[in-house]
Amino acid sequence: MPGQAQCIMEEMPVPPVPPPDRPTAVSAARPPTTYFEAVGGEPTFRRLVSRFYAGVAQDPVLRPLYPEQDLTAAEQRLRMFLVQYWGGPADYAATRGHPRLRMRHVPFRITSVERNAWLGHMHEAVTSLELPPELEAPLWDYLVNAAMALQNAPD
Ligand code: HEM
Repeated sequence: MPGQAQCIMEEMPVPPVPPPDRPTAVSAARPPTTYFEAVGGEPTFRRLVSRFYAGVAQDPVLRPLYPEQDLTAAEQRLRMFLVQYWGGPADYAATRGHPRLRMRHVPFRITSVERNAWLGHMHEAVTSLELPPELEAPLWDYLVNAAMALQNAPD
């Protein structure tokens, strides 16, 4: 599991880069080596984050928190982060550097209200993927723990 035995937010390791695809039948036979691959790679994370932001865009609690009028760039940042965390390409590190998520969320007041709203949209997005339970569970558990760790204001 990525990130184990590390502070979940501040010391996110750069995940191992999956081996390059070989353009033969060998690659078709190769079992997935990362969670990222097992759930279907980039298109799966694209669907996840797109569904999540469709919810955020309509949410009266969350929408005012997002500084930009257009949520496309925010969507891309979260997608790159999750892709990287679960073992896909490290585009997040290349463009944004170290995640430092607690620090990056300091400008936003996150009580249990915002956290639960965030998790509500994320739950809908996760279940929309219709992953097998053994793949859905670690993703959802991670997101819950991460959201708990990012609450930064008392109720
Ligand atoms: C607990 C409720 C949460 C709220 C209310 C919240 C809110 C926000 C807001 C308002 C932004 C700024 C949007 C932007 O311009 O990028 C942001 C950025 C971001 N959030 Fe959250 N967030 C929450 C939880 C999480 C969790 C659990 C994760 C990771 C699993 C996460 C990952 C990110 C990332 C990667 C960025 C972009 C950071 C950057 O590179 O600037 N957030 N969040």
